[in-house]
Amino acid sequence: MIKVLVTGGAGYIGSHVVKRLAGERYHVVVYDNLSTGFRENVTYGRLVVGDLNDRALLNRVMKRYKFDAVMHFAASIAVSESVENPLQNYLNNVANTMNLLGAMNDNGINKIIFSSTAAVYGADNPHVNEDSPLAPINPYGQSKLMVEKILGDLSKAGQMNHVILRYFNAIGAAADGTLGDRKEKGTHILGCCFRAARSGDKPFSVMGTDYNTPDGTCVRDYINVEDIAEAHVLALCYLLNNNPSDVFNCGYGHGYSVLEFVDTVKKITGVDFSVAYADRRPGDIPELTADSSKIRAKLGWNPRYDNLEDTIHSAWEWERKKHYERSFYGYSQTV
Ligand SMILES: NC(=O)c1ccc[n+]([C@@H]2O[C@H](COP(=O)([O-])OP(=O)(O)OC[C@H]3O[C@@H](n4cnc5c(N)ncnc54)[C@H](O)[C@@H]3O)[C@@H](O)[C@H]2O)c1
Repeated sequence: MIKVLVTGGAGYIGSHVVKRLAGERYHVVVYDNLSTGFRENVTYGRLVVGDLNDRALLNRVMKRYKFDAVMHFAASIAVSESVENPLQNYLNNVANTMNLLGAMNDNGINKIIFSSTAAVYGADNPHVNEDSPLAPINPYGQSKLMVEKILGDLSKAGQMNHVILRYFNAIGAAADGTLGDRKEKGTHILGCCFRAARSGDKPFSVMGTDYNTPDGTCVRDYINVEDIAEAHVLALCYLLNNNPSDVFNCGYGHGYSVLEFVDTVKKITGVDFSVAYADRRPGDIPELTADSSKIRAKLGWNPRYDNLEDTIHSAWEWERKKHYERSFYGYSQTV
């Protein structure tokens, strides 16, 4: 059996990847401090509750399980928080990643799949391939680019091979209804729309209506979390077959404006929630979609869930289930 360490596997994307790995020939250990993750999300494998800054614990876990590869999801992900508190963002996303890489190096683990982001690209190019200029406009994107560069150097030195996946905007829930985004205070667009739909009076805020886009609002490439999970399985096979380090965009290649997205959420939920129009949010890029021809050609990625309505529908089903369970069991089902 192949053994995989999944940092951040109790979080939103990591947990869907773990669920997907369960269907394959992998042993999984999730390493997570549960700062934004949930025990209940770990539906397969073993959970070690620990922080990436704890080198001694990382070493113990690595010595014990002798992993073949690491999938590294754990990070601070809120762009606005990275703008307000850059030091915390760099500590978690860069310093803690270096701690992880050091422990991997000490334990002879030389394969890593890293969760990067479309935020490493600059604001000038709306449709980007992997060679497009890298010019992040916020500390979150900077921190991910710093790690990409560190991984590049480790690869050049022959110490570690990587696959970097630059995800665009992850949304949705597992099609079988067993997993989804569990956060209550997430800052992503879908969670904010759902909060507006459920609250009845608190509006959804559209941040910026004067961008140079067809309807003045930001355009994004929304990717179903299950297609991201599939990309990880393919990336893992690629690394296990001793292929060289590489970087791939992970998005569909077409986008929706914020207003189009909001209209789709209203249609799926059946709630005509109110919308407020606010100023631009610092750190937002007007338009960004992925050229994903490389991951399709090289990893054979063939996304199955490229349908915004269906994806929002899966997330809404999950949202309703989550709220029913919370009203019954309380916030956490773990006693
Ligand atoms: N959600 C998106 O749309 C998106 C887009 C691009 C990239 N990404 C990247 O994907 C990864 C996963 O994102 P997500 O949306 O699942 O976020 P998430 O917050 O749900 O998951 C992150 C997980 O990491 C854990 N974690 C954070 N810091 C830790 C630490 N120091 N030690 C141990 N565990 C720690 C958290 O408890 C959480 O379970 C992140 O690296 C993020 O930057 C996400």
